Amino acid sequence: MCGIIAHAGDREALDPLVTGLEKLEYRGYDSAGIAVKNGHGLDVWKCSGQVSDLKRTINTVDSSATLGIGHTRWSTHGPPTDENAHPHTDHSDRVAAVHNGIIENYETLKEKLSEDGYEFTSDTDTEVIPNLIRYYLDHGNEPLAAFEHAVSDLDGSYAIATVIEGNDSIFAARQGSPLVLGLEENSYYLASDVPAFLSQTDTVLYLEDGDVLEVRSDGVEIIDEEGQLAQREVEQVDWQPGETEKAQFDHYMLKEIHSQPESLQKTLEGRFDREKDEIDLDLGLDLSGIDSVQLVACGTSYHAAMFGASLLNQCGVPARSIRASEYDVSAGTPSERTLFIAVTQSGETADTLTALSSAKEAGASTLAVTNVVQSTAAREADEPLYIRAGPEIGVAATKTFSSQAVTLTLLSQFLAEVTDDGSPLDTLPELVSDLSELSNAVEQVLQTSDAERLSREYLNERAYFFIGRGLGCSVAKEGALKFKEVTYEHAEGFASGELKHGPLALVTERTPVFTICVDGSRKTVTNAEEAKTRGAPIVAVSPPDHGIVDTADEHLYVPEMHPICTYLLANVQLQLLSYYSATELDRAIDKPRNLAKSVTVE
Ligand code: F6R
Repeated sequence: MCGIIAHAGDREALDPLVTGLEKLEYRGYDSAGIAVKNGHGLDVWKCSGQVSDLKRTINTVDSSATLGIGHTRWSTHGPPTDENAHPHTDHSDRVAAVHNGIIENYETLKEKLSEDGYEFTSDTDTEVIPNLIRYYLDHGNEPLAAFEHAVSDLDGSYAIATVIEGNDSIFAARQGSPLVLGLEENSYYLASDVPAFLSQTDTVLYLEDGDVLEVRSDGVEIIDEEGQLAQREVEQVDWQPGETEKAQFDHYMLKEIHSQPESLQKTLEGRFDREKDEIDLDLGLDLSGIDSVQLVACGTSYHAAMFGASLLNQCGVPARSIRASEYDVSAGTPSERTLFIAVTQSGETADTLTALSSAKEAGASTLAVTNVVQSTAAREADEPLYIRAGPEIGVAATKTFSSQAVTLTLLSQFLAEVTDDGSPLDTLPELVSDLSELSNAVEQVLQTSDAERLSREYLNERAYFFIGRGLGCSVAKEGALKFKEVTYEHAEGFASGELKHGPLALVTERTPVFTICVDGSRKTVTNAEEAKTRGAPIVAVSPPDHGIVDTADEHLYVPEMHPICTYLLANVQLQLLSYYSATELDRAIDKPRNLAKSVTVE
């Protein structure tokens, strides 16, 4: 939610700033802007719209500036106008700042600064930051001290980067919003996320909450929340620059759907022993005393959490999936024997982080099932369990759902083994064997899918329903979420047995019902027949010899494997269906309207 980037170094700043913003657009695309320090002051370009619009406004022939900051915005305070775009400057245009997060006390600060004659031109909370810095500069402070004073006046969450006229440093701070430093010889990049500078360097340093930084071309100084000079560990990230490119694909979403064979291999690598049917997640936490599990997440990650909870319950480990935004009102207090699992691709989702912190406070053991190394969830939980899907740029989550579901499958069997009341599935040997074949099976689905043709068959219907039972219900809900996100069409996912308890009133010949059928139960077939009787076209998402096939008008076939794997293959078919339907409708597939990938506000 909002992306920030900054550069200080020997090389020219403009190119890496623009490239960085393009890579960060998944965090917001309402407006974009850049400020660089040149020989005579600050140049600021900003506008509503996307980075491609910003590029048209950068009207300089002089690209020699080496110091600069940039921002791509998902609006919170104030609509997406040119005035509200970052960077924001102080009233004398001598300090420019970009910010990700929310300044909770901005109204009080703005009032005070206005009384002192400082002028504001936007509706944003951010504009107080450059004005506060200006205020402290005007009162005789050196730039670093002015920045530190300003930061200490702020309440809320922030990652901030600033440039000050006449000074050769970037001043930055982190509190509750991500900020990572990329290190190259004689050049430094600060960004909300690694993909912003991955084409330049994979050497990184993650900042801690409370850190204030001064970054110059010849070095970095970090001051921690105690005001002491701090050292942070320098690490290599194992993401490859190519993983953040679209390559031959038209959209990141399609690329990421197609990269699932490799991402799943990475998720599974070294985590099970086929000879002994053993799962090894290399967890340092002692989970043997756990008597219940809460899986807490939002959106797509919530559907993966449902998948995991359903499996744990099947194995005798009491588990609940809970929407993070509902945690404080519906979860009840966890005990010391509760395992709280935050399922979050980004590791930065505010609703999930809030729930994580209340579970910690209540004394629960906590685990973060996340994709992003050193994300806030990974750091706040007792232990991270990485899904290793690689960077996901498309706003609609695809490969990360598959990797989350597979990670939670492994975790469910591990917990069933180590806890008192649980026992792994009887079919664990078949599961382990089929998981090692899952990548090939996904490849087969990708090569043979009929989803593109079907998407044209069912274009412009009144609504799209997705039904399934058990694990199939989480896949149905995920299929519907994906469909609505990228097509903007009305789609709903239901537990198939629920259809007759209300939603059937919506069913007509203009509402195709995508029916996920994997196991032998007749119940979902009967539910599909009830919809068909009311005229609805039925699309079976199933193995070719499943009982649903005769009821269905159309088919999206998946290879028959262990049901857990088959459900994941059904989900891949639905990802393709959503993608191709959105393509037909000419939607902004990688940046659906109103959305952002990482939702850092509650
Ligand atoms: C849907 C999607 C969102 C996220 C949700 C949680 O395609 O991407 O629903 O799943 O915002 O995000 P994370 O997993 O980063 O916590």
